[in-house]
Amino acid sequence: MKTLVLDETQIAVAAQLLKNGGVVGIPTETVYGLAADALNGEAVAKIFKAKGRPMDNPLIVHIADFDDIRRFDLVSEVPESARRLAKAFWPGPLTMIMKRTDVIPPEVSAGLDTVAVRFPSHPVAQAVIRAANTPLAAPSANLSGSPSPTTARHVLNDMDGKIDAVLDGGASEVGVESTVITLASEVPRVLRPGGVTVEMLREVLGEVEVDDAVLHQLREGETAASPGMKYKHYAPKANVILLKCDDTAYISYVNARADDGVCALCCDEDLLSLSVKTVSLGRRGDYLTHARHLFDCLRKIDENGTIQTVYSRLPSTEGVGLAVYNRLIRAAGFEVIDLENL
Ligand code: TXA
Ligand code: MG
Repeated sequence: MKTLVLDETQIAVAAQLLKNGGVVGIPTETVYGLAADALNGEAVAKIFKAKGRPMDNPLIVHIADFDDIRRFDLVSEVPESARRLAKAFWPGPLTMIMKRTDVIPPEVSAGLDTVAVRFPSHPVAQAVIRAANTPLAAPSANLSGSPSPTTARHVLNDMDGKIDAVLDGGASEVGVESTVITLASEVPRVLRPGGVTVEMLREVLGEVEVDDAVLHQLREGETAASPGMKYKHYAPKANVILLKCDDTAYISYVNARADDGVCALCCDEDLLSLSVKTVSLGRRGDYLTHARHLFDCLRKIDENGTIQTVYSRLPSTEGVGLAVYNRLIRAAGFEVIDLENL
């Protein structure tokens, strides 16, 4: 665990910008966020403008204490399930959706009668929320559709000139966005997988559903429980192709297509066998590391400039693997080549 030195001056500057209705990039343990005062609709509207985000996609409200939910009157009723989840996983990479009050500006809830709330564990995120003395609305700090940022440099690459500041709190530990669970449905349902796994949630709550949109593309006319899930997302400019196959088949398939514009998004164990450009997610089966590296890998692929096609194996859906699967299948526009059943 690394020790972060919190510079009080920088945090105070960021808090003042936020209080004045500004937009500031902040580190969290999942990914960097683009923060504004969640109770100030005009400030929140600037986030949408900077990201180029569709206005029908609601934002997560970040707090620095479980009691902030009551203190700022964010939700109409705190369900017992929320208390149990908070006890187990807050502060941390879990977002809970509950019925909102009228305190939440329409820009935050995007017309829904619910609000998403998260208590991040990153000390810098907590310090900024406390210093600003208001909850902060924050989506991931990337341009809409691009891979989420896990370093301050990623934020600068996307947002320089568009926001007031970015606080550098080092690389995000989890690397994929928080798990989103709705407690506003009869049975709690995961809308987006993340660092807190479905298995972990079931241990605390018992029955937990996984929304269809986590694994599959929505069919025509279906509405997304989580609006963010309907967009092609997390995509580098290069074309991502997912292969369903074993390691040997993956290597021979990719090597047969060796070309300057081809890259393998692979594991450390594949590196010596591949004859194309490579970007590794980490050791095979180490899903936590894959999650931590995923977005940086996707950004590196674009920074290379010449890569047009990226081949990756279809990730496992076990544990945190499900979060990597969910992001990569969206990056690939849901296209998978099944080499096992040709
Ligand atoms: O880890 C994270 O969650 C990061 C950091 C910055 O906290 N934030 C983040 O925010 O990923 P964003 O806006 O990129 O993703 C929020 C997701 C979107 O898919 C959005 O549609 C969904 O949560 N969401 C937010 N409020 C919702 C609501 N009331 N009902 C359903 N889905 C909601
Ligand atoms: Mg996002």
